[in-house]
Amino acid sequence: MDIFRVGGNARLDGEVTVSGAKNSVLKLMAASLLSPGTTTINRAPAILDVSIMSEVLRRLGCDVQFSAGTLTIAVPEDPSTETDYQLVRRMRASIAVLGPLVARWGHAKVALPGGDAIGSRGLDMHVAGLVQLGAQVHSEHGFLIAQADRLHGATIRLDFPSVGATENILMAAVLAEGRTVIDNTAREPEIVDLVQFLNKMGARIEGAGTPTLVVDGVSELRPVEHDTVPDRIVAGTWAIAAVMTRGDVVVRGGTAAHLERVLDLLSATGALVDTHLHDGHGFRVRMNERPKSIDVRTLPYPGFPTDLQPMAIALNSIAKGSSIVTENVFEGRFMFTNELIRLGAAIQVDGHHAAIRGTERLSSAPVEATDIRAGAGLVLAGLVADGFTDVAHVHHIDRGYPGFEEQLSALGADVTRIHAPDEDYFGPPSS
Ligand code: UD1
Repeated sequence: MDIFRVGGNARLDGEVTVSGAKNSVLKLMAASLLSPGTTTINRAPAILDVSIMSEVLRRLGCDVQFSAGTLTIAVPEDPSTETDYQLVRRMRASIAVLGPLVARWGHAKVALPGGDAIGSRGLDMHVAGLVQLGAQVHSEHGFLIAQADRLHGATIRLDFPSVGATENILMAAVLAEGRTVIDNTAREPEIVDLVQFLNKMGARIEGAGTPTLVVDGVSELRPVEHDTVPDRIVAGTWAIAAVMTRGDVVVRGGTAAHLERVLDLLSATGALVDTHLHDGHGFRVRMNERPKSIDVRTLPYPGFPTDLQPMAIALNSIAKGSSIVTENVFEGRFMFTNELIRLGAAIQVDGHHAAIRGTERLSSAPVEATDIRAGAGLVLAGLVADGFTDVAHVHHIDRGYPGFEEQLSALGADVTRIHAPDEDYFGPPSS
């Protein structure tokens, strides 16, 4: 069980480069199952979740190689269609293989996920969509089993613009017979990336980035080469870290257009946000004073991303003034605030609202990461605490942030990874 020992009173200064989006690459990997042959995915992040998805695909019979940011996935003519609990338990996104498997082989048996510790995340919309496309879906012995001779087009309206349900239904509809209209879909840049990937494969999808996707089914697809969209959540994490530490950070490869709401709010804290760097892609965030607090409401894209909510709470914890952060996407995503309170943050949670009273400095303490984003939020808080903050369970952070501690160190922070011998180890106190 590794720990990050995070030195406080930090100021981040310099350049950081963002790689491809976790939430895109995992789905592109699943989509590669739609065609036999070798798919190449560039700008893939070196994170634990990519290793887990690679293992999911290997167990299905694929040959997966990962080197210097490039994934090659060789899909056999006749793969297995079963994904076991050991893998799905480790990463819920494994469920993305459901749509491609049932569309291409008429059968999928995927273990039901246990879920991240961020509230219940149903699969009802995934299942309802596949049923409307003609699949028979039932669950037994902890597995979801989907079967179909050939899927057919349908008109599907999602109750909520779920990212995962949009992707699973889309990946099934591309090989269905006839036209599928999916309404109230998610519009995240990762969905647009998936649509571009599928269209390159030969799919016929229109409406990417709008709430309605129209899919004209084709009988087969071909393998492709594709560059993953940059990770807007990692880019946003760096932007917020720059503001919190009163630093100056150029986020190379970050797409400002995918972070409009976030960067607008950071400007409202008093930060200087420059999205027109003369030498190419990326943006720069500078801060010279204590940030002003900001009210934040998480919403599906283009709203403020729920995945940056923990960082927004960390920022408000040290900001001037009081604020309300409202979580509208995942219930239970405030659990990590108990850890921030251990660092001296003044936070009161009531249902899906958190009221935060900013204090100038946090006070270091041992804390535990409960999921990827909460973990990153705690590291950011540690950067502005006095002394050293030990953040335990960093395997959560490893799931989504490639080389986080190296990148933080390159920006001038004092962050080290400690290999702890057992679960209860927090290490000796440091000054
Ligand atoms: C994806 C992202 C996650 C991000 C989230 C919202 C990946 C690997 N993960 O998760 O980082 O926080 O989008 O932007 O891409 N829901 C249902 N029934 C369903 C499906 C979802 O009730 O069938 C609910 C969930 O419980 C949740 C909400 O809808 O409350 C949003 O979930 P969804 O958009 O599907 O998120 P994920 O795809 O799981």
